Amino acid sequence: MSIRWPFFKKKKKKTTELTEDIPKHVAIIMDGNGRWAKRRGLPRIAGHKEGMDVVRDIVIAATESGVEILTLYAFSTENWRRPKAEVDFLMKLPKEFMHVYLPEMIENHVKIDTIGEFKGLPDHTRDAINHAKEKTKDNKGLILNFALNYGSRNEIVKAVKEISNHVNTGTLKIENIDEELFSSYLYTKNIGEPDLLIRTSGEVRLSNFLLWQLAYTELWFTNELWPDFNEELFEKAMIDYQARKRRFGGI
Ligand code: IPE
Ligand code: IPE
Ligand code: MG
Repeated sequence: MSIRWPFFKKKKKKTTELTEDIPKHVAIIMDGNGRWAKRRGLPRIAGHKEGMDVVRDIVIAATESGVEILTLYAFSTENWRRPKAEVDFLMKLPKEFMHVYLPEMIENHVKIDTIGEFKGLPDHTRDAINHAKEKTKDNKGLILNFALNYGSRNEIVKAVKEISNHVNTGTLKIENIDEELFSSYLYTKNIGEPDLLIRTSGEVRLSNFLLWQLAYTELWFTNELWPDFNEELFEKAMIDYQARKRRFGGI
């Protein structure tokens, strides 16, 4: 595990390569913790712990770059399939993260939020997150949005059920259902769609993450495992993003 020296704040490295066109909303599939640990002969949970510290570094990097929203895939609705001991460890990480880093998040004006099936989480996990949400609710800096017990198909089905219910009760007319209305039934109703999606660990798939919202997002993949991800790679992703031409179907 890396040793940190909070006494010496790292100076922001000035880059000439990044332009003003910073992606407003960046989403990250933080993958490869287990493999990182395995390569070192460590238990998988050691990779999750190391990955937690990288979350802190990337939040700070995002804040300094002027990113407004950072959505991090922390636990999927499919991750319950993992061994109980690993799931239990992952469910304790939000508390651990807040314990170590909440003061620094507050110092940096970060506002903490979540997307996903919140009530499906253990009480202690929810308590830690609710505490962080409450402490940061008036902050005007980066929105740090953890996708926890999040699954995109689950989110879409939930939206369909709610819409159907509103149609049934007469509060919504079928002819008023359009893309904008549908989006307003998703967890992301207040934060919109990512401009840039990063996935680490060499996997080139979405794993049930933001399927609706990523329709026109720029995708960026790296072979680096999440615990090895860092500010330089984050900046590299944004530089590559800036070199792309987003057309949204136009010319
Ligand atoms: C990502 O790392 C963290 C979570 C999914 C919670 P993994 O645990 O998936 O690591 P790999 O993909 O097995 O290496
Ligand atoms: C996606 O990673 C979920 C998170 C990073 C939280 P997984 O490791 O669960 O994805 P798959 O199983 O390789 O598709
Ligand atoms: Mg994985």
